[in-house]
Amino acid sequence: MRLDKFLSETGFGSRKEVKKLLKQGIITVNNQVVKDAKSQVNEWEDQVAYDGEPLHYQKYFYYMLHKPQGVISATEDKYDETVIDLLSDEDFREDLFPVGRLDKDTEGLLILTNDGQLSHRLLSPKKHVDKEYFARISGVVTEEDIKLFAQGLMLKSGEAVKPGKLVVDAVDEVKGESEIRLVIQEGKFHQVKRMFEAVDKQVVYLKRLRMGELYLDEALELGDYRPLTATELQLLEPSK
Ligand code: URA
Repeated sequence: MRLDKFLSETGFGSRKEVKKLLKQGIITVNNQVVKDAKSQVNEWEDQVAYDGEPLHYQKYFYYMLHKPQGVISATEDKYDETVIDLLSDEDFREDLFPVGRLDKDTEGLLILTNDGQLSHRLLSPKKHVDKEYFARISGVVTEEDIKLFAQGLMLKSGEAVKPGKLVVDAVDEVKGESEIRLVIQEGKFHQVKRMFEAVDKQVVYLKRLRMGELYLDEALELGDYRPLTATELQLLEPSK
């Protein structure tokens, strides 16, 4: 690959910025100063260094974010803070995006990456990847609801959704509230909220706990993120 592409993707800014950097004679390839942006490097074999410090090429980046409420699952927005705005300057890259969307008022597990294929594999309905949610519901969730969810519901909009596994963790009959976990494999707009609306109940709090075999690290504070470990990445794509 071209040296300027390598440097840009390693976090040295735009191609223009990289060109200026190269002019300073501070970049070496296999211990030789290289100033030509167009020169070719083998990103896995050549030793590229900045001021003597070896640089390591990384193509894909994967972060686990504990999404807080009030932040939107987009890369940019005119009015609202986005999940990408939560990244530090050091970790920010133009090509990072959230894998799927959580509503503005939903919390929980969100993966940020620049790997489009991974995103497709996790989100495509054909791949049947579980998404597990915890929710507080206004209403008493019943055995009948569990059966209806297991069969696949018709939403109020007339759209059909595939079966979901609903587990009731707690019910307060006096207050008329329930706590549940729901596993679904689709990701239609407001799907969990609309599934409960279909049985005349309301989601008052929603949190995603899991995608595939990857669980939210509960040690992450709301709004915090960290890179996925190699083991976690394996859970998401066993081929890597
Ligand atoms: N279902 C919803 O209703 N909202 C979310 O954010 C995710 C799933």
